Amino acid sequence: MRNPIIGGNWKMNKGIPSEAAEMLKELIPLVKKIRYVDIVIAPPFTAISSVIQTVEKTNIMVGAQNMYYEEKGAFTGEVSAIFLKALGCKYVILGHSERRDIFNENDDLINKKLKKALNSDLIPIVCIGEHLEERETGKTKEIIENQFNRTFKDLKSKEISKTIIAYEPIWAIGTGKTATPEQAEEIHIFIRELIESSYGKITAEKVRIQYGGSIKSNNAKEIFEKENIDGGLVGGSSLQSKSFYEIIIAAEEAFEE
Ligand code: PGA
Repeated sequence: MRNPIIGGNWKMNKGIPSEAAEMLKELIPLVKKIRYVDIVIAPPFTAISSVIQTVEKTNIMVGAQNMYYEEKGAFTGEVSAIFLKALGCKYVILGHSERRDIFNENDDLINKKLKKALNSDLIPIVCIGEHLEERETGKTKEIIENQFNRTFKDLKSKEISKTIIAYEPIWAIGTGKTATPEQAEEIHIFIRELIESSYGKITAEKVRIQYGGSIKSNNAKEIFEKENIDGGLVGGSSLQSKSFYEIIIAAEEAFEE
């Protein structure tokens, strides 16, 4: 059984520690009784340290939104996996479409970061997804397959089992346009088939695949009820404790049923 994982990707929001703490102090008591859902918050780098202190001894875990694959050196503005581990981060989001589209990250770079994260004992949450024109011209599966092959290149089966894949159709991110549960499930099944063809059925059944893109309290449950959708990566709705909690509860209920 794959238990769901809900990630709150705060993007470039709540980077001031006091703002982050304010939200988390509301969230912590709300999620106290959550049993099955793994809850991860990914704040900006500037708030990671204080967020880790705030969520100590709670069931909330912390991730970073990015990292570089080298350990140290002349890489101005970058942060390494060792630094994140030393702070107490457990997760790292890699290859988010905003990193790909705004900061020109490609599959090869993300593959290097992914291997470094795994070697450093960070759990990677790796995003893949198609643009609107790619979906409209029927290229979704081709794009996903290419991204999958390049991004996860040369990963061992033990490594892919630890990796969390986030399917995030780019046209659904921050747009209020969610993929229907059927559209999302179709691609989740496709991704699981890709894993199966390289690593076999047992591994494919282990990998958690999240959906991401305009998840809200009112559409979360129907998405999480799909068999191949193991939770979600949430942007906008993770910024307020109430909406984020409602999404976590939706995942918990979908899992229990
Ligand atoms: P959104 O963002 O929920 O605001 O659409 C999701 C994401 O980018 O991970």
